[in-house]
Amino acid sequence: MSDPQPSPRSVIAPALDLARIPSHIAIIMDGNGRWAAARGLPRAAGHRTGLDAVRRTIEGCREYGVRVLTLYAFSTENWRRPAGEVEALMRLLGEALIDEFDDLMEAGVQFRMSGELHSLEPALREQVEQVIALTRDNKTLVLNVAYNYGGRAEIIDAVRRLGRDLASGRLTPQTIDEAALGRYLYTAGLPDPDLLIRTGGEQRISNFLLWQIAYTELYFCDVYWPDFDRSHLLAAIADYQQRRRRFGGVEDA
Ligand code: IPE
Ligand code: IPE
Ligand code: MG
Repeated sequence: MSDPQPSPRSVIAPALDLARIPSHIAIIMDGNGRWAAARGLPRAAGHRTGLDAVRRTIEGCREYGVRVLTLYAFSTENWRRPAGEVEALMRLLGEALIDEFDDLMEAGVQFRMSGELHSLEPALREQVEQVIALTRDNKTLVLNVAYNYGGRAEIIDAVRRLGRDLASGRLTPQTIDEAALGRYLYTAGLPDPDLLIRTGGEQRISNFLLWQIAYTELYFCDVYWPDFDRSHLLAAIADYQQRRRRFGGVEDA
């Protein structure tokens, strides 16, 4: 169907069907270290420049009406990195929360975190909790940052809490189904991702959203995360729109 007066958006991305924008996009932001190494810079410089890509991605998601954006920023396995790099990544989260807060509010972005908050430094943890509380009523886009996140750790954590509720009688074995377990995950209340993007060229999941991606469309691209821009995001969405999602059923005639 042609638009009689094409908007600037349809000129830039003619292939996108605005009625089939993924509601939830999850991204494994990979390649910061290699981006930095290619420029003779320390790895931390790659992480810092990666923040520009985060801003561009939030903007693109808002513009196209994506409802939830989940960004994998620090995995439970990333503690294995040198202490200096871990410190730089922790500092970056704290600084970004301060620097970006006004823009997030103005843009109506609701901040959430998926991950184990308790082992973060108390000051950082408090900061995260404040931003979650202050942005709670924002409605445009949910920005869910997966931080100190591991898919297996998330399931263990859920099963532990579920076990406690079983023991106390709040839950019975018969009432445990997929939805019930989902309510114990960090992502409770969020829809499963429609599209998962991994930058940086690796084609693996690295312990990300193991439960939630059962039927997510996967998209891998070679670009290092700090170089990821609007055109890459739109290319991923366009690719997604070519997929036929069957969820185990058969395609409509
Ligand atoms: C992704 O970039 C960011 C984090 C894992 C925190 P990397 O730091 O993994 O970059 P590469 O994969 O080494 O290039
Ligand atoms: C996945 O990237 C974690 C994040 C992007 C936060 P990694 O770079 O840690 O993954 P592996 O080690 O290549 O699997
Ligand atoms: Mg990596």
